[in-house]
Amino acid sequence: MKVLVVGSGGREHALVWKIAQSPKVTKIYCAPGNAGIAGCATCVDIAADDIDGLKKFAVDNEIGLTVVGPELPLTLGIVDSFEKDGLRIFGPNAAAARLEGSKKFAKEIMREAGIPTADFAVFTAAEEAKKYIHEKNQPLVVKADGLAAGKGVFPCRTAAEAAAAVDRILTKKEFGDAGTVIVLEDFLEGEEASFICFTDGATIVPLPSSQDHKRIFDNDAGPNTGGMGAYSPAPVVTPQVHERTMETIMKPLMLAFAAQGIPFKGIVYAGLMIKDGMPRVLEFNMRMGDPETQPILFRLKSDLVELMEAAIDGRLAQIDVQCDPRPAVCVVMAAGGYPDAYAKGYPIRGLEDAASVPDTFVFHAGTALKNGGIVTSGGRVLGVTARGATIQDAVAAAYRAAGRIGWEGVQYRKDIARKAFGR
Ligand code: AMP
Ligand code: GLY
Repeated sequence: MKVLVVGSGGREHALVWKIAQSPKVTKIYCAPGNAGIAGCATCVDIAADDIDGLKKFAVDNEIGLTVVGPELPLTLGIVDSFEKDGLRIFGPNAAAARLEGSKKFAKEIMREAGIPTADFAVFTAAEEAKKYIHEKNQPLVVKADGLAAGKGVFPCRTAAEAAAAVDRILTKKEFGDAGTVIVLEDFLEGEEASFICFTDGATIVPLPSSQDHKRIFDNDAGPNTGGMGAYSPAPVVTPQVHERTMETIMKPLMLAFAAQGIPFKGIVYAGLMIKDGMPRVLEFNMRMGDPETQPILFRLKSDLVELMEAAIDGRLAQIDVQCDPRPAVCVVMAAGGYPDAYAKGYPIRGLEDAASVPDTFVFHAGTALKNGGIVTSGGRVLGVTARGATIQDAVAAAYRAAGRIGWEGVQYRKDIARKAFGR
């Protein structure tokens, strides 16, 4: 079977790498891909949100399965469009992808289903939002309703910070149409984890737990990013937290979609805040996490294509996910300046040297080929991924490999997975 993977990040490199291990697969294309993906798939120059272009490619090349990495094409309805023409595609339709595409929709469905999450209010007018901020008089999180690549969320300790965030989104329109509606929610304390599952609408099959590192700097300082590193498993997801997440979050969510008659297929990813063993939902995504996918797929032993086909065909109840017990970690190497403005086009050195570190793999994100060499072309550039007998071993291997790689301005966190060390 020929497979088309849509996207160009570290997550998509990991998807291509894992899909290539499936005995069912004869050929992999990736649109648009990156310099690393070009080493294990044929990259085609079609943008991830060019749905008509992707569909034409899938028809012309007899693609048996299309796998969508990022959220934008999902919210734009790529699954609806492919299915209408009888093409097989893994992911949620546009109605289900609203769970990620609109934070207001997600909060309302959680309220109706009784899913534990922070209290919230929704606004379109800055003055009303500010009135609420002053009445509440407590730390709040200000969120743009729509998609903003992980950057439209402002945790605010003071009323002045919250009012400034409201102005950035509603008055200055920094996020365009994604910020015509805002959600203000109570600030939750605790430790975060990513709980990522397959679903076919009737069964939820969890992948191993993981933890992302959202802030740009060590010790969780600085602004939020798309994610600066991840590891799996996340010990904060104890067996009890796992059970509670399934019973109080995942199953009620699946039933809420069933009650609304919305097909619920693909990935469902709960971003959790865990305190005293109680998980609460920060957000839902309808796709794999980036960089969580890198360590999770490093550990997954099951055939990923088989899992995806079972989700499409409603056979997940018969599936048993097999996993390597050894922990894995991914350290993201980013461009200097990210998550704000950054330069591109710097030659990357040391990739071959890093590849010789055992039990590691360097997934590419923002990379491109130029004059026969590999250069930076994005904010998050590489995801150095490693496994080990212990999380400490995995971390040591990842940093050994990362230390061999460099370019002008490179930055990466030095404390990825440290929260897991003491547990
Ligand atoms: P989201 O995209 O909604 O997951 O938000 C991005 C990040 O902002 C989360 O991973 C948290 O670090 C932080 N965050 C979001 N909502 C809250 C909240 N209610 N309380 C504390 N931190 C939050
Ligand atoms: N790493 C966070 C996300 O993929 O949304």
